[in-house]
Amino acid sequence: MKFQSLSLTFIFLYTFLMPAITHADEGMWIPLLLEKYNEEEMRDMGMKLSAEDIYSINHTSLKDGIVIFGGGCTAELVSDQGLLLTNHHCGYGQIQRHSSLENDYLTDGFWAMDRSEELQNPGLSVTFLISMQDVTGKVLQDVGSNMTEKIRDSIIDSRIEEIVNSITDTSEFLSARVKPFYHGNQYLLFINKVYKDVRLVGAPPSNIGKFGGDTDNWMWPRHTGDFSLFRVYADSNNNPVEYSPDNIPYKPKYYFPISLKGYEPDDFTLVFGYPGSTQQYIPSDAVELLTRVKNPVRIKLRGLKLDVMKRYMEQDDLIRLQYAAKVARVANGWKKWIGENKGIQRLNTIERKKEKEKNFQQWADADPERRKKYGGILAEFSEVYDQLEPLELSRTYLIEGGLGVELLRYAGSFRELVDVSNNDPEKEQVEELTDKFIKRAKNHFKNYQVEIDKEIFVKMIREYYQEIPEEDQPEIFETLRKKYDGNVQEYANDIYDKSFMTSEEDVVDFLDKYKARKYKKIKKDPAFELVTGLYDKYYNDIQPQISDLDAQKDSLQRIYMRAQMTFEPERRFYPDANFTLRVAYGNIGDYYPRDAVRYDYYTTLQGIMEKEDPEVYDYVVEEKLKELYREKDFGRYVDKDGTLHVCFIADNHTSGGNSGSPVINAEGELIGINFDRCWEGTMSDIVFDPDRCRNISLDIRYCLFIIDKFAGATHLVEEMDLVTE
Ligand code: ARG
Ligand code: ASP
Repeated sequence: MKFQSLSLTFIFLYTFLMPAITHADEGMWIPLLLEKYNEEEMRDMGMKLSAEDIYSINHTSLKDGIVIFGGGCTAELVSDQGLLLTNHHCGYGQIQRHSSLENDYLTDGFWAMDRSEELQNPGLSVTFLISMQDVTGKVLQDVGSNMTEKIRDSIIDSRIEEIVNSITDTSEFLSARVKPFYHGNQYLLFINKVYKDVRLVGAPPSNIGKFGGDTDNWMWPRHTGDFSLFRVYADSNNNPVEYSPDNIPYKPKYYFPISLKGYEPDDFTLVFGYPGSTQQYIPSDAVELLTRVKNPVRIKLRGLKLDVMKRYMEQDDLIRLQYAAKVARVANGWKKWIGENKGIQRLNTIERKKEKEKNFQQWADADPERRKKYGGILAEFSEVYDQLEPLELSRTYLIEGGLGVELLRYAGSFRELVDVSNNDPEKEQVEELTDKFIKRAKNHFKNYQVEIDKEIFVKMIREYYQEIPEEDQPEIFETLRKKYDGNVQEYANDIYDKSFMTSEEDVVDFLDKYKARKYKKIKKDPAFELVTGLYDKYYNDIQPQISDLDAQKDSLQRIYMRAQMTFEPERRFYPDANFTLRVAYGNIGDYYPRDAVRYDYYTTLQGIMEKEDPEVYDYVVEEKLKELYREKDFGRYVDKDGTLHVCFIADNHTSGGNSGSPVINAEGELIGINFDRCWEGTMSDIVFDPDRCRNISLDIRYCLFIIDKFAGATHLVEEMDLVTE
């Protein structure tokens, strides 16, 4: 009985995962299934490669030249010496970590003139995909249709664990992961190899790598030279190994040839990388929660935070360095959510989803079998999202507001020391931990200004305190209410005065002399008390409710996904992004963002000169670049139109995580590095509009021009394979 119902599920799935009609542009596709679903269309659009050239487990294929870079970007191999290209904003943390006022690589750029100058990056790794495989059958083997979600999850978890262990046991170099697709209707196994010695090789100055800064971020026309170079190192057998000066450059199975030929409108492009997360198939209630509750709060709180940080950064060079990465992180989400909300509103996404849901409901109700399976699903979604609303509001204030304060996040990290100390630890254990905390303190205070943080505290806690109804507030806010009569400034004055966690000296002094019994001093610290109160509220109250509702939501979403596929059998469905390797393809071209406005598909060096403003940090142009421009000294990187192209756009469906992804032409040669999307299309994680969604790529020729002509690091270009015809 069970077996039969399962095999029916499979027939069902495979039938409905088959495309019937095709649309170009939209979609991020699974490399393993290209031949089945996309190859023909890609060839029609101009691609000269086969699906096997892109992804194969039997032969070398493009996928062997692509890695996950760190925790959230993509990078590609561009030489047989393990040379890696990614974005400047992806290598930003590393570049910043090596920077100081004396050696300000962030501002001035960094170029290793030989291997010995390349800089080590503890904690940075790159992940190669060895293979992917459909394991749906194994994962869902013992899952029955009437199980509770809890039992279902625990069966799935243990199946996944078995699969993962069976791989990891056979090789110390391989790691495995199983990930759900189509919201749990399909499962794929990924076998990876992780390299841990990855060194910084080159980065342009920020006025190139981050030209236009947060002002131009998420916008077109764009002139950002958003790239940095790293090198992967291996042991003498080409296997992963911890950093050692004896390691040698990794020999890739595949690396990308680089095209100097340029491109034309309508040319085929393909982006191969790791989009992080999209939500294309959620119900209108979910879009409402996102756009009417979550995004506005996040936008408001981040806006307040940014005002404070930017004001200080403008006045002081050290602060600018210290806060550069923080501001970039906060501003990036802030701006994207603003664009996302606008795009969703302009496309009437909520209303259009409601319309579709109406039709879906009619379809479901029209057949008794379907009615039983799907008839109640939208109503159930509504109920779940209604209950989620106040909880998501609380959670957003807690995360963006409460934990948006650095002192509170930092104080929260001391929990570990309290817990260990409280448990009768060995002396060595305590010593080890305090060493770790001393290191952490150095890192934390390197980029910390207490007066900035205190101002942010006042703004964040005030919002949190005023906007959340009293009954939903953390209990610890009673102190603020009773002792300070709601005066957040006075509350902040006391906390920042009395906490020992606001000063490096006090923290290190405390840790130097630390003994387990002293943990009481941490517990009495007012910053620690406050953050503990926030966490208590979260873990004892908000989180358990949310996780219950999330489980219901996930289960509904799984069924709803399947239902949508049945409801629209003609439509080709791609799975939502889940930070697994995907292929997006489309064409290079102009776009028309609004009435009477048309944007060209590429920008040139001239645009940089036009944007130049020596007074504004993000728009400073260096003399050397101006000189090259004046003399039209573009070398072999010049376009056939005589200009130097900087960035270009296409309609590939990309998302956060695709940054650093190779952008290739019909022949499979590298023509760009993906790094952003256009403002009018930032809603593409929720809804894709082929007329307005564009991915932004750095023209590879500008990248090489900067390495070679601007920085004189010609030896790096010589490592690469350049294709001119
Ligand atoms: N918007 C791009 C992405 O989401 C680039 C972000 C980095 N740049 C910045 N100015 N913050 O990652
Ligand atoms: N800039 C993004 C990233 O870092 C890419 C995007 O969201 O389009 O992955």
